Amino acid sequence: MSETVIPTTVPTVTGREMAAIQDALTTRTLTGKGKYTALCQSWLESSMPDGGKAFVLTSCTSALEIAALLADLQPGDEVIVPSYTYVSTVNAFVVHGAVPVFVDLDDATMNVDVRLIEAAITPRTKAIVPVHYAGIACDMDGIMALAARHGLLVVEDAAQACGGTYRGRLLGTIGHLGCISFQEKKVFTSGGQGGALLVNQASLAARAETIYEHGTNRGQFLRGEVPVYHWLDVGINATMSEIQAAFLYPQLQAAPDILAHRRHLWARYHKRLAPLVQAGVLRLPVVPEGAVHNAAVFWFRLADAARRQAFIAYMADGGIVTQPQFVPLHSSPFGQRVGRFVGEDRVTTRAAAEVVLLPLYSDLAVEQQELVIARALAFWDGVTLKA
Ligand SMILES: Cc1ncc(COP(=O)(O)O)c(C=O)c1O
Repeated sequence: MSETVIPTTVPTVTGREMAAIQDALTTRTLTGKGKYTALCQSWLESSMPDGGKAFVLTSCTSALEIAALLADLQPGDEVIVPSYTYVSTVNAFVVHGAVPVFVDLDDATMNVDVRLIEAAITPRTKAIVPVHYAGIACDMDGIMALAARHGLLVVEDAAQACGGTYRGRLLGTIGHLGCISFQEKKVFTSGGQGGALLVNQASLAARAETIYEHGTNRGQFLRGEVPVYHWLDVGINATMSEIQAAFLYPQLQAAPDILAHRRHLWARYHKRLAPLVQAGVLRLPVVPEGAVHNAAVFWFRLADAARRQAFIAYMADGGIVTQPQFVPLHSSPFGQRVGRFVGEDRVTTRAAAEVVLLPLYSDLAVEQQELVIARALAFWDGVTLKA
């Protein structure tokens, strides 16, 4: 085992977070909804449609939970989701009695295959929840058109995708609702945990605010619109603290630089590993036309999934941490109990078993990345020699 360890991911830190936190301390509005909350929300809202409203929250999971409340789900209602995703995408809806209906992935992007969604729609379908895996956009034109035809809500799970775009629009701002994560493994973090709900449809904004205000019209009270506030609806406390918002805001300000560096590293991996695609031992992500990814992670897929543990162990021996990602939810014990897979599982299970994530984070230097690339290439040199 070598001395230096290159992890798969390291939280983004710009160096300007502490000054913002110090400033936040002087305001004495630590519970949130203060200066830095407003700055983060304005940053997000500047990319949103007119009348849209952003709420910074404790996590993307809580954003998904508010989205599920806005969907007004009745027990037995169905939500169409990919099975290859983090549990939160689905848990938020299952908590309200919804049935997750899983459809297969597009082999090139590992995002939900829009051509398979229509066959999964039933009279009980309420929402489609596309996940922009690895910050690469789903086919949002296709999904929005389908949703409009069937009167369905679209909740973008843009947990991994903040900073990525589709036809020039920030991911999370295209569906009726968008959910973003600022957890430490994402491109931008609010200090470890955090997220945002983007309410892109104006007609949902008032109820979203009520749910966010614990089920009350406290928002109106704070704006001086009513003398007292009342309990009006269900609600949750998912408010991001002001300290977290102060951590996040300098990162959003530095977004162009952070994204440029990460995309540079992503493009280098793609270019340097391309010969292995030619050799038939792996495949690389495809970024569809119209999409600009945010370099959230860099994944590749082994042609032979049985080699994955050997690859991970070989990289670890060289001090480089690589990892698999999600186990498909439809094959997990709880997913089997509460959900169903519609159509054939041609891609999901196979692709999930082939995926490996390589180190990619905002502080990763090109020289460190070279070590990763050299070791990855050497793994297949060995294979060739042995063969
Ligand atoms: C696709 C997806 N959805 C939702 C989440 C949940 O985000 P959070 O940890 O902010 O609740 C994650 C977290 O990794 C994710 O990858």
